[in-house]
Amino acid sequence: MPTIKEILQTMDYGPAPESTKEANAWLDQHGRRFGLFIDGAWTEAATTFATNNPADASELAQVTQATADDVERAVQAARRAQPGWVALGGHGRAKVMYSLARLLQKHSRLFAVLETLDNGKTIRETRDADLPLAARHFYHHAGWAQLQSEEFADYRAVGVVGQIVPWNFPLLMLAWKIAPALAAGNTIVFKPAEFTPLTALLFAEICQQAGVPAGVVNIVTGDGAVGEAIVNHPGIDKLAFTGSTEVGRIIRKATAGTGKKLSLELGGKSPFIVFDDADLDAAVEGLVDSIWFNQGQVCCAGSRLLVQESVYERFIAKVKARMQNLRVGSPLDKSNDIGALVDPIQQQRIHGLVESARAEGCDIWQPSCEAPTAGSWYLPTLITGASTSAAVAQAEIFGPVLVAMSFRTPSEAVQLANNTVYGLAACVWSESISLALDVAPQIKAGVVWINTANQFDAACGFGGYKESGFGREGGKEGMYEYLTPLSEDARPAAPSVPEKGRVKASEEGSPFAVDRTAKLYIGGKQARPDGAYSRAINGASGAFLADVGEGNRKDIRNAVEAAHKASGWSKATAHNRAQVLYYIAENLAIRADEFAQRIAAQTGAKDAAREVQASIERLFYWAAWCDKYDGQAHQPPMHGITVALNEPVGVIGIICPNENPLLGFISLVAPALALGNRVVAVPSETAPLSATDLYQVLDTSDLPGGALNIVTGSSSELARTLASHSDVDAVWRHDGSAEGCAEVERLSSESLKRTWVGGAKGRDWFDAKQACGRTVLQHASQVKNVWIPYGV
Ligand code: NAI
Repeated sequence: MPTIKEILQTMDYGPAPESTKEANAWLDQHGRRFGLFIDGAWTEAATTFATNNPADASELAQVTQATADDVERAVQAARRAQPGWVALGGHGRAKVMYSLARLLQKHSRLFAVLETLDNGKTIRETRDADLPLAARHFYHHAGWAQLQSEEFADYRAVGVVGQIVPWNFPLLMLAWKIAPALAAGNTIVFKPAEFTPLTALLFAEICQQAGVPAGVVNIVTGDGAVGEAIVNHPGIDKLAFTGSTEVGRIIRKATAGTGKKLSLELGGKSPFIVFDDADLDAAVEGLVDSIWFNQGQVCCAGSRLLVQESVYERFIAKVKARMQNLRVGSPLDKSNDIGALVDPIQQQRIHGLVESARAEGCDIWQPSCEAPTAGSWYLPTLITGASTSAAVAQAEIFGPVLVAMSFRTPSEAVQLANNTVYGLAACVWSESISLALDVAPQIKAGVVWINTANQFDAACGFGGYKESGFGREGGKEGMYEYLTPLSEDARPAAPSVPEKGRVKASEEGSPFAVDRTAKLYIGGKQARPDGAYSRAINGASGAFLADVGEGNRKDIRNAVEAAHKASGWSKATAHNRAQVLYYIAENLAIRADEFAQRIAAQTGAKDAAREVQASIERLFYWAAWCDKYDGQAHQPPMHGITVALNEPVGVIGIICPNENPLLGFISLVAPALALGNRVVAVPSETAPLSATDLYQVLDTSDLPGGALNIVTGSSSELARTLASHSDVDAVWRHDGSAEGCAEVERLSSESLKRTWVGGAKGRDWFDAKQACGRTVLQHASQVKNVWIPYGV
């Protein structure tokens, strides 16, 4: 007699196909030919291309390749519709968005089947993940529309936004983009990916039913050329892109200097870390969700498995056993786990990467099962024996391919986890909450799942560190991506020129009388400039005041190195950082007269004493924020909490304004330090002495060496070096140079560093609305969401 176990092993699910009747009827109703959705109406389908079912390569429909003229019309329609959409008010928009959420739920089966047909992902996933999450996004953001006047009173909508999404979560990415944009009062030109346009077109119909006013949501289909036309259109105020890092870089470059707001959600190579005390069986299930969800075509897929050495063999054996049970086949079959890849191109790409690993001597393991012959498929794959620098360990494979490695200690796990240009997500598996919560903040990634994987919720922000992009989607932080502070509109057209008093010429006219060359400040020490050159600084009266060191590339490199070594500043307690900033203020106050004289001598400002007092107050202001910019504890539907931490960005290069040489410097450097960043600051090019005079103040204020480095010289040259430096995480430029700011944005695209640039406009550094507040805090930090389930 067979045992129960043997019986269970022979039992299998029979086929459970989902019906495609309604989806086919919808396609037929449109003659399987779609125009664009512009200004609330459908255009005639002109030049079209096919969108296919990846599971069997059959054609589903013909879809229009939009032209530049179409994009122009869509942008114009969105522009016309925007004031009316704002005028509808928060409650008016909330009602429309609530209708969208309800309609998505009502038609969820049709959407799910259509998504499965167009994308190849399993019906289980579209039905149980994509659709509920998409609807949840509209509900959640209907709420933000309702609360906008209260929660975002000092903000306005950005305007017309361009949104471009990939093919891996077509409807979900649409919801992530469109819901916050609508809530905030923006109007939209949206482009789905060329492989998967159908659910966006169905959504256009839902917009009509929900009463979205004409022109508020425009949907244009087509390939990258249509994306490019949106990116380059001057009528677009903000761009939100999800897709490959390569295209993200192109968009960063293309928008440099245009003033367009930008958020990029790009690739990943996320680590899945298993410690030896983890619940290994639960971790295996988490791994299935992490790397085999959506055939691994997920930006945050846990594609790098890192297992503690003592359990490595055991864990790999369990993974193989589980892989053997994964069911590969028709995505419409409700009992299948693995569906089709989106397109044969993707299959070839994955195949190429896996074969390169094989050629390098890696072990490639796949379960013994068969994939269907028609369409594009790839079996779940496990690669072992790869070096940490191998292409499969570094490149985003974007397929069902897992690369496994072992580690010995938690610090080695962190080091391996961070050994990537990406920083989107990570999983940490351990039964020790102390270990897991110690490791989570050390991983440079926007999301960390502890003992769980691939959890998402509209209330919790999602987005990357490093080359995984910037900006967040979801949560309150995601709303800010679609809002502009009103204080931006109040900024003066050009930097202010001080009202000049009478300034005496320097009495000691000869530069040779004493050596008054101010050096650079690197690693907490005064350092001679590498090139041994200096530049003369003349005062407002034209007389020579002092020389300052002429910093060059090497000096910036030294400063960045010193900043990296000062990592202790980022780990210091907020209380400790506040104390240091208060202390700087106190020491500055003692020398207030001297600083006022120096400002007057450099700029001729009548009100120099006021600038010093404002600088002291600003130091107090940012010291106050140090221990108050707390994160949040979200309560997503999961049983547990999601802790949103405001982490420092890292090393920030700051090009300070020319005007207000002390206040401008402090207004930018202090918030960066307050939130735990380390800084390489380039002071006012024309009046740098207020910054070089600070060296002694800093020395006596307990600021650790390297936390703040100061390099004087040419703002443009030093900005260029900072923006090109791969170890600088962000660059801020506020010296009123439009071309210089554009260059910073352009050069930053290489390592996708974050930027905050002021362009040609000025800023009233005395005005707290323009120089302080949440916007500055946001630039100085990045949100990491740590998901912590409990009781499960
Ligand atoms: P992609 O980045 O080229 O496409 C994403 C979207 O951008 C599509 O709508 C596309 O039409 C549009 N696009 C393409 N070129 C553009 C341009 N120059 N300007 C504006 N928009 C443009 O991604 P693709 O080709 O679909 O996939 C290639 C690889 O990228 C994948 O194998 C995967 O490794 C990675 N990828 C990563 C994603 C992620 O979420 N991290 C999503 C999609 C792809």
